[in-house]
Amino acid sequence: MSPVRHSQDKKISHSNQQKASKNQYMSNEMKKLINDRTAPYRAVITGCGSFVPEKLLTNEDLIKMVDTSDEWITTRTGIKVRHIATDSETTAFLATEAAKKALADAKLDPCELELIIVATITPEMVFPSTASFIQRSLRAKKAWVFDLCAACSGFIYGISVVQQFLESGRYNNALVIGAETLTKITDWTDRTSCILFGDGAGAVVLQQSKDKNRGIIYSTMASDGDFWEALNCQAYGSRYPAHKELDDPKKIYMEIKGRQVYQQAIRRIVETVTNCLEVCNLTIDDIKMMISHQMNGRIIESAAKRLNLPDEKVFINIAEYGNTSAASVPIAFDDCIKQGKIKQGDVVIFVAFGAGLTWGANVIRL
Ligand code: ACO
Repeated sequence: MSPVRHSQDKKISHSNQQKASKNQYMSNEMKKLINDRTAPYRAVITGCGSFVPEKLLTNEDLIKMVDTSDEWITTRTGIKVRHIATDSETTAFLATEAAKKALADAKLDPCELELIIVATITPEMVFPSTASFIQRSLRAKKAWVFDLCAACSGFIYGISVVQQFLESGRYNNALVIGAETLTKITDWTDRTSCILFGDGAGAVVLQQSKDKNRGIIYSTMASDGDFWEALNCQAYGSRYPAHKELDDPKKIYMEIKGRQVYQQAIRRIVETVTNCLEVCNLTIDDIKMMISHQMNGRIIESAAKRLNLPDEKVFINIAEYGNTSAASVPIAFDDCIKQGKIKQGDVVIFVAFGAGLTWGANVIRL
């Protein structure tokens, strides 16, 4: 495979061209700017790690809680089991464990860390940020830290933020974590949502590199607030503060309009990956693996089919974790690396879609 960034002679496939021509993401001038850009550095992933609670919740367990079946859950979602945090396993705890593994993998001393971003919609508390607790646990005194709230796309957004700081030369390294304890805001009486979610955390260390053949090639992000009602958890923010009685006690739980999300998710994933291929001058052949947010096995498979991605280029591990929102891409990435399915030099696409609505992707040469 030739270096991706300056491969101007590479042609995209006919079907990609057709789809891309409908794509309104970017002007031709902007595409040229991205392909021709001469950023002084690249942002390279140098370590990864993940951590999930030991406690499991199987489909068989759920059958005892709500009117459902293993057959329904498996065929509609691909999920078999989820990891469930205990009371003492908070989001910051899971995140710190994943972070320690990523730092060890990157052989980076936490004292050297310059930036920590935690993508989460289930933070440790309203404030301070979950990232503050992780900085404290890691003794990463040199870092500045913050949380990023973009639901299932949070990790992708975080990688993109770090990309800007590392490529410009402003910082040498950063830690991006996706961490969630979604089962703490799950309505265990709602069979349409409680079967979907699990807890966990995944993390990557990114470092500045002068090797222009490695690192993040391209990131793209998008949002559409018009669909905020499709996925939400309304208490206890400023709209429904804790001191005010809720008109509906269920507002403390996640609410999802599954069918609406399902259709949007497939459309946006296909659109986003097509955009990535076009802007980066890549074909499906150049991609080793698409690592999608694990929201539903059927959504990932449908999107992959529309993209003409063969099964071996699509990583799905939802059966063992359920939907872990911002944590799902870094957990999947870590699993994919550990299973030896991707290695240094391979081009991977991270892609996610979630509440907000939000969606986005990162194209990375490992
Ligand atoms: N067991 C048995 N039957 C069920 C269950 C269940 N657990 N849940 C729903 N049903 C029933 C419904 O009541 C309905 O019955 P009816 O036809 O008699 O009314 C039927 O199954 C079909 O319901 P749908 O909601 O249309 O089922 P669908 O095929 O859409 O699957 C699902 C539902 C799995 C939630 C799907 O829509 C989905 O995965 N959506 C996407 C969720 C997602 O992507 N979330 C990502 C973001 S999460 C975040 O941002 C935090």
